[in-house]
Amino acid sequence: MLPGILTDMTSSAGMAHIGVVGLAVMGSNIARNFARNGHTVAVYNRSYDKTERLVADHGNEGTFVPAATIEEFVASLQRPRRALIMVQAGAATDAVIEQLADAMEEGDIIIDGGNALYTDTMRREAAMRARGLHFVGAGISGGEEGALHGPSIMPGGPAESYEHIGPLLESVAAVVDNTPCCTHIGPNGAGHFVKMVHNGIEYADMQVIGEAYHLLRYAAGLDCAEIAETFRKWNTGDLNSYLVEITAEVLAQVDAATGKPLVDVIVDQAGQKGTGRWTVKAALDLGIPVTGIGEAVFARALSSSVAQREQTAGTLPSGKLASPIDPADRETFVEAVRRALYASKLVAYSQGFDEIRAGSDEYDWNIDPRDLATIWRGGCIIRADFLNRITEAYTANPDLRCLLLDPYFLNEMEGLVDAWRHIVVTATELGLPVPVFASSLSYYDALRAERLPAALIQGQRDYFGAHTYRRVDREGSFHTLWSGDRSEVEA
Ligand code: ATR
Repeated sequence: MLPGILTDMTSSAGMAHIGVVGLAVMGSNIARNFARNGHTVAVYNRSYDKTERLVADHGNEGTFVPAATIEEFVASLQRPRRALIMVQAGAATDAVIEQLADAMEEGDIIIDGGNALYTDTMRREAAMRARGLHFVGAGISGGEEGALHGPSIMPGGPAESYEHIGPLLESVAAVVDNTPCCTHIGPNGAGHFVKMVHNGIEYADMQVIGEAYHLLRYAAGLDCAEIAETFRKWNTGDLNSYLVEITAEVLAQVDAATGKPLVDVIVDQAGQKGTGRWTVKAALDLGIPVTGIGEAVFARALSSSVAQREQTAGTLPSGKLASPIDPADRETFVEAVRRALYASKLVAYSQGFDEIRAGSDEYDWNIDPRDLATIWRGGCIIRADFLNRITEAYTANPDLRCLLLDPYFLNEMEGLVDAWRHIVVTATELGLPVPVFASSLSYYDALRAERLPAALIQGQRDYFGAHTYRRVDREGSFHTLWSGDRSEVEA
């Protein structure tokens, strides 16, 4: 028997503190993280070779209980049994849940750590509750490295189950300022909903960084090494974040085969696994404008519309374009790009928090926005210094209706907005696409506006569909007799 590996099923029965089902990269890494933190971990994978490989390669990192069948796996868990599922989202997750539920007993806890759609999580939670089991949909962010060294964990599900899983999950999560990046988010689908919006924000954050890069390259004429250096510098200020840090690394990378910057030999078609799209779909249903995330999802879709781009690139007329930035003005321009990036990013986060509040209200989840900013400070892909400011903003005013109204962010915007406008105008004049910079600015201006053209839209709706309108000066609903004498009647 290898050290630390309990293979005798009689002696290992009921020994494991937690079990992990699904030992692909994320599952193996989180199982190792539990083991390294002193927990006895049962491990099971549909094909046994992955289980064998995990214990052969990493058995010395802690105590593993490898199981060949789901029944063996369940039998090896301490009660209440805690099983973390790390398999493909969708049908595979449903299949594993059924197998576990059949082998488990009342009060046992199934945790789905995959990227499930929150409505699936709500359905599964209800089904497991009816069988006397606890079901916890837990968002886990941080990729492979996070899973191994400390992810950000967003568990939903019944509050009682958190008493049994909270300490375990917190012991493997990232820690910032002595606070683990894991807390109970709310009932049923709350954890996966929040993880979904987290990913949506990540899409927007990556896109604004991409837009900044594009402008530095094609408006300011900097080369990749110079842009990498610029991002490195930015990472020491307000924009300090994991995504800015890795952007510098990617841009500094030189392709060994060609000697070119790696970014120049990567095909410019961005992929997606669907969580950004889900965020936007949910936002549409909730009636919350998440324009930054929406444009970021569409930007990826456009980049991957290969057949269309082949025909449109170099064909559609540009009109007269402005000249690139004069080298003498570069430094000012670069700083303006930084401000535009920061402002657009603030809008994306503000919109994401709006969506979370709307989801929380819709489903009675009672999500505390302070918790999110706190648990996203470490482990996850959008970890950033300024999340501390978001926590402070919601601590000062838990009912804040818009993050941008917090005094700190109001003051920041004051210093950003001129540069932001300048950059959107310049990009437009140069014919360079900045969908999130530009749409975020329009969103911001719409939020600022005393009057919106929505009044005209109400007039149009009343004209063609008698949908009625309200007046600014009187209570009630009104309709104009458009096809009659055009007098107004009370509806
Ligand atoms: P990654 O992207 O890290 O490879 P994934 O595709 O999300 O991970 O999940 C793959 C895991 O789901 C594997 O553990 C896989 O088991 P196998 O190694 O046996 O293929 C597991 N998986 C996929 N479909 C499954 C199913 N129907 N039942 C059980 N496990 C399944």
